[in-house]
Amino acid sequence: MIRLENVTKSYQKGVNAVDRLSLLVPPGKIVGFLGPNGAGKTTTIKMITGILEPDEGQIEVGGHDIVKDALAAKRGFGYVPDNPDVFLRLKGVEYLDFIAAIYHVPEAEKKERILDLAGKLEILDALSNKIQSYSHGMRQKLVLIASLLHRPAVWILDEPLTGLDPKSSFLLKEMMRSHADAGGTIFFSTHVLDVAEKICDVVAVIQKGRLLFYGELEQLRQKARERGAKDGANGGAGTAAAAEDSSLERIFLEMTEEL
Ligand SMILES: Nc1ncnc2c1ncn2[C@@H]1O[C@H](COP(=O)(O)OP(=O)(O)OP(=O)(O)O)[C@@H](O)[C@H]1O
Ligand SMILES: [Mg+2]
Repeated sequence: MIRLENVTKSYQKGVNAVDRLSLLVPPGKIVGFLGPNGAGKTTTIKMITGILEPDEGQIEVGGHDIVKDALAAKRGFGYVPDNPDVFLRLKGVEYLDFIAAIYHVPEAEKKERILDLAGKLEILDALSNKIQSYSHGMRQKLVLIASLLHRPAVWILDEPLTGLDPKSSFLLKEMMRSHADAGGTIFFSTHVLDVAEKICDVVAVIQKGRLLFYGELEQLRQKARERGAKDGANGGAGTAAAAEDSSLERIFLEMTEEL
């Protein structure tokens, strides 16, 4: 579980990149974090993972406060950053060894996990090469594998589908589903609304650091239909169309343009 309470962060005085954000990510569900560029998704994820400290508010990951009890919190999650350019001079396998050592993954288990995950993602042969020789997609796969070596209960991913080919993104979506089905917690940001529509059980939509919506997609559609009907009754045309077309893309555009 991930819990945020009244979390605020600003990079410059008077402008909150994240603004009093409260959010609960329960286990067993795929929770998607949506919002336009600059909405505050990465800033939120960096606070959840302890990279940035909130100015105000509390964050718990797996029952541990990420500021006060950082190590215990960090042991319990795997994180895929939005930029996979890690330790470029290491070989893939050296990077995975390093991560496994940090998380105290036993040798035999490490080998088994690497064979399984790198085999599935088809980068086993490349692991003996330096990361700087990898394509963006290969780097993305490497950080995905690294994030799962210690079998974390909580999996946090920032734009994980960027740069993955159709086969790999299908595989990743399957991995996300099985993580949730096994009772794990999963929170990921995405711009790809089709993906969100297909795999999320719950979505959180933010804009200008504020939470616009949290709930199941069907509730979001219902909300859009109600607004569309109300607007239609008032002679409006814009959201009336949304009453007919309840695609997430349309709802999302309308919601985020309103603010
Ligand atoms: N290091 C920084 N210094 C100053 N401002 C920043 C910094 N990082 C982010 N911001 C600002 O904070 C706001 C939120 O940015 P953030 O990167 O969290 O958004 P995002 O939702 O992840 O966007 P994207 O979809 O482009 O990844 C933006 O207005 C951005 O310009
Ligand atoms: Mg981002």
